[in-house]
Order: sequence, then structure tokens, then C-alpha cells
Amino acid sequence: MKSERTQVGIIGAGPSGLLLSQVLHLEGIDSVILERRTQDYVLGRIRAGVLEQGLADMLRQAGVGARMDAEGEVHHGFDIAFGGGRLHIDLAGPTGGKTVMIYGQTEITRDLFAARERMGGRIVHEAEDVTPHDIDGDAPYLTFSRNGENHRLDCDFIAGCDGFHGVSRRSMPADVLKTYEKVYPFGWLGVLSETPPVSEELIYASHDRGFALCSLRSRVLSRYYVQCPLDDDVANWPDEKFWNELKTRLPADAAARLVTGPSIEKSIAPLRSFVTEPLRHGRLFLAGDAAHIVPPTGAKGLNLAASDIFFLSRGLIAHYRQDDDRGLETYSAKALARVWKAERFSWSMTKLLHVFPEDGAFDLKMQRAELDYLAGSSVAQAAMAENYVGLPYE
Ligand code: APR
Ligand code: PHB
Repeated sequence: MKSERTQVGIIGAGPSGLLLSQVLHLEGIDSVILERRTQDYVLGRIRAGVLEQGLADMLRQAGVGARMDAEGEVHHGFDIAFGGGRLHIDLAGPTGGKTVMIYGQTEITRDLFAARERMGGRIVHEAEDVTPHDIDGDAPYLTFSRNGENHRLDCDFIAGCDGFHGVSRRSMPADVLKTYEKVYPFGWLGVLSETPPVSEELIYASHDRGFALCSLRSRVLSRYYVQCPLDDDVANWPDEKFWNELKTRLPADAAARLVTGPSIEKSIAPLRSFVTEPLRHGRLFLAGDAAHIVPPTGAKGLNLAASDIFFLSRGLIAHYRQDDDRGLETYSAKALARVWKAERFSWSMTKLLHVFPEDGAFDLKMQRAELDYLAGSSVAQAAMAENYVGLPYE
């Protein structure tokens, strides 16, 4: 058994784990990340790319904001299309100038990997059977194997940043955890294509045939989605069929302008709302997708991972710098307060814009009334903008 020691043992090299290790490093706190996959695999995952100002600021402060500022796009609003028309939601006006940054999660992950490498951060890839031990005591440790060799990593704290399917949440005693879950009766079929985006800003479209979203990664890379049945298969969706379905669900002017091309990625993602409480047991802390999932409507997943890491890193820094554990003790409550509000927003935006197979005539009228109310009320639009740009961290 090979042994080593660090201050914070981090499970998972997604955005949560990488950002935590980077922020801690800048404060002189040592960490090791154990990641089950290879770096190429992690970088191959295509995910959302709408960053709240809180996350953009965190990346800048962590010294990884340069490429985002150079290549990302600041968006001041987005459109909601319904009933043949379009409603523009202004973000900056009602929020005192707040905006969102369009920059892919894949690129953030790439920048964080590069920074960790430059600074000599330790990331163990292809770590198998990572297991937390003694989280109730003062001396927790992690065991794992790599290339057939067994390893032990002693640490002061363990950060479970290992996503929804990770080991961390399952390592908490079942009787302390409470989970809340809603699974939606549809998925999102997503396509990435090397085509100019149909619109400068994002378009969220509500249509009788189902929801559609026009998003982008850059001026030459588009990301589009259509709502599809939960049990659908990408094999049922040759490019041609996807583009036709997308066009049908978009306002006529957008459909006419849409530039199509071969898909370079195509996948179906289920939609789920999920929260586990609490986020801490003993010396194990959960953050990001390990603790909660939102449906992608509103793009809150990555942003919630960032606010978790904000609270957790502050708690750890106060512990090491000032011997003050209040931040660690309040981590779960503080992070969860923000998580639940983003869960509410993602759920309500999902409800507003999708076709729910079980909905009857009354539900459809309610959905339409909600959209009409939004269109006619600057107050409702301001509330949507406030949530979209991201609620404050405290
Ligand atoms: N051991 C080690 N690593 C693991 C294990 C395990 N048992 N299980 C999972 N991992 C790794 C995964 O391979 C992945 O690289 O943990 C990482 C978790 O990364 P993400 O799933 O990206 O989760 P997180 O870092 O919290 O990022 C949240 O990702 O899913 C999106 O919408 C979400 O944008 C949000 C962001
Ligand atoms: C994306 O670009 O992938 C995206 C954008 C906005 C969302 C969800 C996904 O609400």
C-alpha cells in the first residue's frame, strides 16, 4: 500500500473538484484530486455554457478567467418564443447591470486543468474504487487503486465532488441523508454543430410539439436542443430529422435563418430535479452534482457547483487561516439555501416551457396564462432576470 498525505482529499475532477483545488491552492492549502476517468474523457463531456457573474468572478479570482474574458460572450438578455411571437427578457436593466457569460463548461474544465498543471497541482487520473474511510473521526482517509496498486491518501477533510453517480453521497450514512427527487417525463436531445448560431442571444421556445432551445458556444459553434420522449434513442434522429423538428418549433423568422450542418455531437439527457441533505457528515462535504441536480432549463447546474465551492472553500480557508470552523459548520445550510432557490427556478422554467404528456386542457391554459402574464408584466420579467443572472451568494 502506497501512502501519502494532503490537507483536503478531493474526489472528482469535474468543475467542482478542479475549482476547489485551484482556490485552495491560491490560499496555500494543499489538496489531491482523485478522478476515476482520464483527462480526455472528462474533456469530452459537452455540457451547458451559461455562467452567472458569481462564477465568472470566481474564475477570474482563481486566475483562470483570461481565456473566458477573451473568447466568451457577454449576453444582456435572451428570448422566450411562444404562440408565434417572441418575448425578450432583458437581464441587465432590472438587475442593476448584471449579465451572463457564454463560455462552455468544457473550456472552463480545460482552463482549470491547465492551471492545476502549471501550479503543480496533483490530480490522480484513473483512480479506481475510491473509498472514503473514518469520516466521523478526526483522521479520515481515502483508499483507491491504480494500475493494480493499492493507495492510501490521508487528509483532514474530504470533498465529494464526484457528480451524481459518485461514491461520496453513498458514503454518508443512509439514516442521516434525506433526498428529494423529481424525474420529468421527457428528455433533451442536444446537437452541437459547427454552424453560426441562429441568433445573437439564446432562444427558449415553447411549442405544441415540445420545447426547443437555441444556444451557442461561439460565433461558429451552435448548440441546439429539442424536447424528446424519455425513452427515445439518438439513432431515431438523423441530422435532417433533428433540423426539421427544430425549425418547426422555432418562430418563423428564426427557422428561416437557421443554418444547418452536420452534427458533431448528439446525445439525449434526461431531466431531473434532485437534492440531498445535509451536505456534510463529519469530515465529508458534498458539492456540485454529487449533492444536487437541476433540469438544464435555466442552466443552473454549473453555477450551483460554483456557489457550493465558494461556501466550502471559504469554510476551509477560515479553518486553516483563523482556526475558525463556523464556515464549515454552516456550509450545508448556506449552500442548500441557495440550491433550493435555483431548484425552484429550474423547475418553474421547465414547467413553463415544456409539453408534459400528462397535462390536460386546464394545465395547458395555466401554462399559457403564465406566459401571457410574463409577457405583460415587467415585474415578472424582472423576477425571471434576477434568477437567470443568479441570486447573490449570501
Ligand atoms: N471516483 C473518482 N471520481 C469519480 C467517481 C469516483 N467514484 N465518480 C465520479 N467521478 C468523477 C467523474 O468522472 C467526473 O469527472 O467526478 C467528476 C464529477 O464531475 P461532474 O459530473 O462534472 O460534477 P461537478 O464537478 O459537480 O460539476 C457540476 O457538471 O454535470 C454538470 O450540470 C452539471 O454543470 C454542472 C457541473
Ligand atoms: C447550453 O448552451 O448547452 C445551454 C444553455 C442554456 C440552458 C441549457 C443549456 O438553459
